[in-house]
Amino acid sequence: MPLTCSVFIGVSLDGFIARENGDLEWLISRGEAAGDDLGFQKFIAGIDTIVTGRGTYEAGLGFETWPYEGLRVAVLSRELDADADPRITVYRDLDALLRGLADSGAEHVYVDGGQVIQTFLREGLIDDMTITTVPVLLGSGRPLFGPLNGDVSLVHRATQVFGASVVQTSYDVVRTAG
Ligand SMILES: NC(=O)c1ccc[n+]([C@@H]2O[C@H](COP(=O)([O-])OP(=O)(O)OC[C@H]3O[C@@H](n4cnc5c(N)ncnc54)[C@H](OP(=O)(O)O)[C@@H]3O)[C@@H](O)[C@H]2O)c1
Repeated sequence: MPLTCSVFIGVSLDGFIARENGDLEWLISRGEAAGDDLGFQKFIAGIDTIVTGRGTYEAGLGFETWPYEGLRVAVLSRELDADADPRITVYRDLDALLRGLADSGAEHVYVDGGQVIQTFLREGLIDDMTITTVPVLLGSGRPLFGPLNGDVSLVHRATQVFGASVVQTSYDVVRTAG
């Protein structure tokens, strides 16, 4: 079964997924104001494994409940102890992660965290992206996108306008490798 890798993420209009200090209130409040789950439950229902970076994993530890219940959780990190958390599997690099995904029978992966998404995009491993843009400019923060080895071509799938000026756009990525 080929691996499908999807991004589903919220972003400021100027391309940030969190403030530099990790604050997400600007996103959560506007998402709530949109008055909809923005398609998240439908998206997550098709996912078996989430891949995050250490940054996103550590942010999730601050939530009231573990956000990844029912999913296999793979965390990319050079620093986390391998046995840091029984709920996760830690991988030191992309090659080890991809072997682990194959060994575990992963079929549909949710790729989350800015640096990890950038890693996957550089390697041509992302199949589709659903990007929910909230109407704010932050000026600085943790970027969704970054340097690439070459252009990444996209095909528009859908755009939906929710309440509170929240706009969600989905793209298929023209895969170049993987
Ligand atoms: N807006 C949203 O919808 C949304 C979604 C997810 C997350 N977030 C927020 O975004 C922030 C986290 O994103 P981020 O971009 O800062 O970090 P991230 O991608 O979640 O994690 C970065 C870390 O992952 C590890 N990593 C990444 N690529 C790697 C690779 N190729 N090989 C080995 N390790 C790799 C490194 O850990 P080591 O330093 O340990 O090596 C790196 O420091 C958090 O504040 C989170 O709350 C927002």
